[in-house]
Amino acid sequence: MILVTGATGTVGGEVLRLLVDRGAPIRAMTREPARLRLPADALIDVVQADFDRADSLHRAVAGVDSVFLLTAPGAAGSVAEHDLAMIRAARAGGVRKVVKLSAIGGKADDAADLPSLRHRAGEQALAASGLTWSALRPSSFASNTLSWSDAIRAGNPVPNLTGTGAQGVVDPRDVAAVAVEALLTDEHDDAAHTLTGPELLSVPDQVAQLAAELGRTITTVEVPPHAVRQQLVSAGFEPSVADSAVDGYQLVRDGGNAVLTDDVERILGHPARAFRAWAHDHRAAFVAGEEYP
Ligand SMILES: NC(=O)c1ccc[n+]([C@@H]2O[C@H](COP(=O)([O-])OP(=O)(O)OC[C@H]3O[C@@H](n4cnc5c(N)ncnc54)[C@H](OP(=O)(O)O)[C@@H]3O)[C@@H](O)[C@H]2O)c1
Repeated sequence: MILVTGATGTVGGEVLRLLVDRGAPIRAMTREPARLRLPADALIDVVQADFDRADSLHRAVAGVDSVFLLTAPGAAGSVAEHDLAMIRAARAGGVRKVVKLSAIGGKADDAADLPSLRHRAGEQALAASGLTWSALRPSSFASNTLSWSDAIRAGNPVPNLTGTGAQGVVDPRDVAAVAVEALLTDEHDDAAHTLTGPELLSVPDQVAQLAAELGRTITTVEVPPHAVRQQLVSAGFEPSVADSAVDGYQLVRDGGNAVLTDDVERILGHPARAFRAWAHDHRAAFVAGEEYP
């Protein structure tokens, strides 16, 4: 049995779908089972659990061999606490392997070959836990551009938080496919992989590719770091979480996340999907009046 956390989200939802295709026995974890969109005819066990409630995690891991661990930052920034809570439950529950979705650390200073600060404590605890582990460190998701869909649909400029800083934008479907390989084989045990797309792209580059896909002009508007911080705090983010988000945007702005690897191609046996292909498959999200998803 494989426990998929984050099962209602972008990567976890795709992990679920791919595991169903591979015929693996699955348990999907969510705080709100009604939000779960299960593949048709799939026989999936569903568990209602919350990283903030240890008792629910013990129920979630009962009888489980492997866990796909996805801990999202949210407004309170509790990634490390949530990682540690699941690692504790996994050890107590006799789980064998945990595949953790982490994040790229960039190439600045001491960050070489390290995950992002947000995921570092969880990765370190997992590697020291005695459990078999894998850590997947993706670059920026292509799907982050969905946050621009309202602006693009309305003909407004897209907010640019990272200037001309380029990143190895990765398709979350590739991230999920690598996670499935790590869950179903032993080839990625006790190893970390840095997952990027095939090309370095800035926000203006991504906007240009979306514009070409949609056959129209899209403009951008610069949002300076202090304004980003203000917006995050006003939206309810803890100031420390807002600060670390702004630090991340600054790193990208300074070229510190201009990293490409061939890990996706090496693991999946086909080239990493390009942003252009993601944009084509999700064009409806950016067209006024079209239904999406
Ligand atoms: N976006 C990027 O560019 C990027 C790049 C590298 C790494 N990452 C990493 O990718 C992860 C986010 O992946 P995603 O985009 O697939 O996530 P997502 O779509 O935002 O989904 C978040 C998931 O987390 C679950 N969740 C949140 N709080 C929870 C809690 N307290 N207990 C249990 N489940 C909880 C939600 O489930 P319910 O609401 O159903 O409970 C939901 O399924 C983060 O770890 C992030 O650091 C992101």
